[in-house]
Amino acid sequence: MTKEARLIIDGKEYTFPVITGSENEDGIDITQLRNQSGCITLDPGFANTGSCISSIAFIDGEKGVLRYRGIPIEDLAQNSTFIEVAYLLIWGELPSSKQLARFSELLTDNAMLHENLKNHFEGFPWNAHPMAMLSAMINALGCYHKELSDLDAHEAMEAAAARIISKVRTIAAFSYKMTLGEPFIYPAPELRYVSNFLHMMFSVPHKKYEAMPEVVRAIDLMLMLHADHEQNCSTSTVRIVASAGANLFSSISAGVCALWGRQHGGANMAVIKMLEDIYDGGMDAKQCVEMAKDKNNPFRLMGFGHRVYKNYDPRARILKMACDKLFTKLKHSDPLLDIALELEEMALQDDYFQERNLYPNVDFYSGLIMRAIGIPTNMFTVIFAIGRLPGWIAHWREVVEDKKGRIARPRQIYTGYNERHYIPIDKREDK
Ligand code: SDX
Repeated sequence: MTKEARLIIDGKEYTFPVITGSENEDGIDITQLRNQSGCITLDPGFANTGSCISSIAFIDGEKGVLRYRGIPIEDLAQNSTFIEVAYLLIWGELPSSKQLARFSELLTDNAMLHENLKNHFEGFPWNAHPMAMLSAMINALGCYHKELSDLDAHEAMEAAAARIISKVRTIAAFSYKMTLGEPFIYPAPELRYVSNFLHMMFSVPHKKYEAMPEVVRAIDLMLMLHADHEQNCSTSTVRIVASAGANLFSSISAGVCALWGRQHGGANMAVIKMLEDIYDGGMDAKQCVEMAKDKNNPFRLMGFGHRVYKNYDPRARILKMACDKLFTKLKHSDPLLDIALELEEMALQDDYFQERNLYPNVDFYSGLIMRAIGIPTNMFTVIFAIGRLPGWIAHWREVVEDKKGRIARPRQIYTGYNERHYIPIDKREDK
């Protein structure tokens, strides 16, 4: 027997079917609400609104659970790699060794950028934010691969995914080199995905950067943990743009812009800025926590809280352990880590944070790992974008392949002027 929801508006009763997901979460299907009642729903921020049915990632926010295509993030963190997880997210299954070898080969073969694309970097000021360059260059990349606009065939989708996942790394590294005024370092075909990225970031013509295995593992883990997160702001943006029929490159470019926001992917930069402010003496941890609780103060404890997780973000737990392991291996210490640990302990014992279920999220520790490796703060969100790319591609594909899909076009409740007439300019007064 299907579950139903009943709504009474102005004394009239309406009935709507309830859809139950594979993890037993219920959603009221209101696709006929306006036709039947003339009403719409209102849910700013969409905290209570499902925009789609999806089978890519599952989050149980109350329990702090995250699974990619059914596999717990802890299992993947322990046993998998970013490229294997990318394949899992996009095509729904872990690749066979043959499929993984082919996908890896496609990534290696597609690491280069068209030489003309290099000229675009010169159009940016030297201090342009790498996220601005990333979004622009991904759209420009699409102009060089028109053949990838029609992606019905598996081979075309595989080629497009490999191209964008491989080239985004090169674009990111070139953006970084551009801000340094250093020559671009080309991808090295003998290196794997992360090692090649670090090579393009940190090698110079006279000295090749050799990444330590522990550093490669830490970045690979970071990318994997960021690979998808169901209907977050940037992924929803990709889905909305895809629903309009936009191609993969322009949909991803829009996702990069959304991710840049400090409330979203930009938080990893804001966490380090907050920790540095405390370290430089501008604030102390207790003061920081008190400021975050003060409703008259716009300050928030960056890297804390989450729309969905009302428990510890499982990714933050994994990153906190990875941070500790990397620091030990590199014999590295960072006073900002000590401050972060103090902040976490203080906040988790504070009623305000406990009552609101505010815990560290994925951004709280990720910046400390990147800092230890020498990645500059303004590249943190770029690393997040590289990680999130497979998820964005998977969601783009899910929208495009939904033959019953419709363009995303929300409604609104209008609170502006009622009808009024045009006033000739000579009859107008300053308002
Ligand atoms: C990411 O959606 C995703 O999945 C995102 C992400 C992904 O992988 O894609 O997980 C990545 O974006 C992680 C979040 C990174 N952002 C930050 O760390 C910025 C700091 N956090 C907050 O701004 C906030 O927690 C959000 C934006 C993450 C969530 O905002 P919500 O869900 O709109 O929460 P809210 O504003 O409704 O907060 C509920 C209450 C409010 O207090 P009251 O009005 O109930 O008294 O909690 C308070 C908020 O003021 N609150 C905080 C807080 N976060 C929420 N108070 C102090 N510090 C914070 N960080």
